[in-house]
Amino acid sequence: MTEPEAPPEDPTVVVSPMLRRHIPEVVAIEARTYPRPWSAKLFEEELDRRGRCYLVARVGADVVGYAGLLMIADDGHVSTVAVDPDVQGRKVATRLLVELVRGALELGAGQLTLEVRASNRRAQALYGRFGFVPAGARKAYYGDNGEDAIVMWAHDVATDEYAERLASIERSLPSPTVRHAFTPGATPETGTVGGRTLAAQVAGRSARLHPAAPMPTGATGASSAQSSGNGRMKS
Ligand SMILES: CC(C)(COP(=O)(O)OP(=O)(O)OC[C@H]1O[C@@H](n2cnc3c(N)ncnc32)[C@H](O)[C@@H]1OP(=O)(O)O)[C@@H](O)C(=O)NCCC(=O)NCCS
Repeated sequence: MTEPEAPPEDPTVVVSPMLRRHIPEVVAIEARTYPRPWSAKLFEEELDRRGRCYLVARVGADVVGYAGLLMIADDGHVSTVAVDPDVQGRKVATRLLVELVRGALELGAGQLTLEVRASNRRAQALYGRFGFVPAGARKAYYGDNGEDAIVMWAHDVATDEYAERLASIERSLPSPTVRHAFTPGATPETGTVGGRTLAAQVAGRSARLHPAAPMPTGATGASSAQSSGNGRMKS
């Protein structure tokens, strides 16, 4: 008699600040998911700017997705979200967005916004779960095919009601997200979370199972923040 097959394990997904060393893998996913991918240089510049939150999701040693946000006054602009096509549909983007919203809240966001291709129903459904609603369109926003962008906003994100929405999304996940936060230290590897340059504590002790201490916060108010280097939000 053969043993019944064990159910496949849900892989542990670690979400942490994006560091320079992650950029080659990030750019490789970019190339597979966007018609006009951002360059490594553009990501590097973003990591150096204040009022940014850039995160990666990793399974084992591999980067499988990433997300970014920049602050303009108290508006958090989601600039990018992408997941390796090989692992799409497994809640990696949901995990990234939960942490990205937390990063935005720590940067002082009162509301969040993004642009999404009119045809990108999957992303729109994802954002809808996070309370984003369509608020208008930008005609022919995307230069590659002239497609319209739908502008979406999530209002009142710094409220108990919104916190409950986030908690409910987290409860729906099949396993907790492991969050690696980076605190100032003496290691040479630096990254940026919320505009503060931080050294990565890559030791296992910095990993905590959710619920965990918040990601390090940085200064609010990215007055110099404009849309990312190439003059557009990509989301
Ligand atoms: C959009 C994207 C980031 C979603 O990543 P993902 O990890 O697959 O998303 P998740 O597994 O967390 O799924 C979140 C929601 O997306 C939708 N979704 C995910 N996979 C889907 C699929 N195969 N078909 C339809 N909807 C799907 C669902 O609404 C899902 O929520 P649900 O599982 O509760 O129904 C990913 O498809 C991607 O990288 N696309 C290319 C880049 C892109 O379009 N980025 C967004 C720019 S605005």
